[in-house]
Amino acid sequence: MNIEQLISSFRAAGQGQVFAFWDRLPAAAQQELLAQAAEVDLAEVERLNRTLVLKSGGATADLTDLSPAPYERLPVNGGSSAKWAEAQAAGEAALRAGRVAAFTVAGGQGTRLGYDGPKGTFAVTPLRKKPLFQVFAEKIKAVGLRYGRPLHWFIMTSHANHAQTEAFFVQHKYFGLDAGRVHFFRQGRMPAVDFAGRILLETPGTLALSPDGHGGSLRALHRSGALDLMKAEGIDTISYFQVDNPIVRCVDPAFIGFHLLAGSEMSSKMVPKAYPEEKVGHFCIQRGKLVVVEYSDMPLAMQRETTPAGDLRYNAGSIAIHVIDREFARRLAGGSMEKGEGRRENEGGNAEVPVLPFHRADKKIATVDAAGQPVKPEKANGVKFEMFVFDALPFARNSVVIETGRADEFSPVKNAEGVDSPQTCRDDQLRQFARWLKAVGAHVETDATGLPAAAVEFSPLFGYDAATFAERWQQLPVKPVVADGLYLE
Ligand code: UTP
Repeated sequence: MNIEQLISSFRAAGQGQVFAFWDRLPAAAQQELLAQAAEVDLAEVERLNRTLVLKSGGATADLTDLSPAPYERLPVNGGSSAKWAEAQAAGEAALRAGRVAAFTVAGGQGTRLGYDGPKGTFAVTPLRKKPLFQVFAEKIKAVGLRYGRPLHWFIMTSHANHAQTEAFFVQHKYFGLDAGRVHFFRQGRMPAVDFAGRILLETPGTLALSPDGHGGSLRALHRSGALDLMKAEGIDTISYFQVDNPIVRCVDPAFIGFHLLAGSEMSSKMVPKAYPEEKVGHFCIQRGKLVVVEYSDMPLAMQRETTPAGDLRYNAGSIAIHVIDREFARRLAGGSMEKGEGRRENEGGNAEVPVLPFHRADKKIATVDAAGQPVKPEKANGVKFEMFVFDALPFARNSVVIETGRADEFSPVKNAEGVDSPQTCRDDQLRQFARWLKAVGAHVETDATGLPAAAVEFSPLFGYDAATFAERWQQLPVKPVVADGLYLE
């Protein structure tokens, strides 16, 4: 499409305001605006305006035919130890065979934390103040060493944080990982619109573009060539986690094993909700498919519903940890599954054409007025469009959900203060270290919440969970005294 065609396609779509300041832009800025405009799928924007923005009453979630999703309980909560051991062995075999890659979604804007920089560079650990990326790097390295196959690590960035993220890894020598196995790629972006559906300008020469949500990761994995690289490397299993949760098991053999043994295309971890109104998505079954119903879509009465035994009926909270089959990601990304690829259960394809829906988020969006002057809105002035990765679940065959302990695996840094903040995350890491110490019989003073009096820290290279920690601890010829500043690597 040439320049005139591009501009007239915007005018024809009622989006001519995008070029309102065209005549006063320098040539280089004109080129940049054109490049951004060419990224926009006008038909998609038109469809989203029709279905999400202009529709009166907005979209309402379909809550018909819902029931709680079954899940694999932890042995301590009544699950079968034999099944967990079998899953662990299957996952370990996959790791030894090099079938698994780690995948971090790190393209978010992190507005709530308000930290100036990519969230993965945020200093998170209690003692050494290691950044999130370093914690993951050490975990991934440790798993690779344990199973004799270094892992590939895929990191999805955004246009806004890509260069800074890459530079951070270069600066820190990839935290000891082989640079050839760490892969960065940008996610897609979407234009924001005002409440009349008109694409907003951020400046006279740039569109208000923002990342297309963590659901955009499936498209981006495909578009970036990451899926092809995985295929060439013999990787068929993607271990997905978010950038904000340092206590996640980046690569968990038992989880991978449950996924593989079930022939699942996409699997998930759950934690029992902490209280009925906890703001998490709920794993449910709807007409035979696994779905996540957000707390904001689920009526309070339903969130509080109990079973005859007095337990919460909708108890399974989503914590955004998944295992994804490589060819399933390709199918969801719009690239058809390659013949003969994927597991046998996948062959033949799915009659449904899988498309991830966009969600509407009303936000304050920096823009310009009719004179091209900057406007910093006090309240929401427009709509951003985002895809959510869990919307892929209903398209997946044989999905499994397994339980994990909240204290063992979920303490995200979302907010600057209060819940899910650097402080709560620091304390949760300390509690985890204290539990590992207690489990090996070390003397450690804690308060009633399990928080140790001493600030200690253990590198994932020493131990990345209770079992690996215990192994290394037993090997220490002299056991260290637990005191402020104890660090083991
Ligand atoms: P959040 O939902 O916490 O969003 O992302 P956020 O953008 O990081 O933070 P806020 O809402 O602005 O405060 C959960 C995970 O999904 C990733 C984030 O980087 C984080 O790991 N994510 C989110 C993306 O990779 N891309 C997106 O477009 C959105």
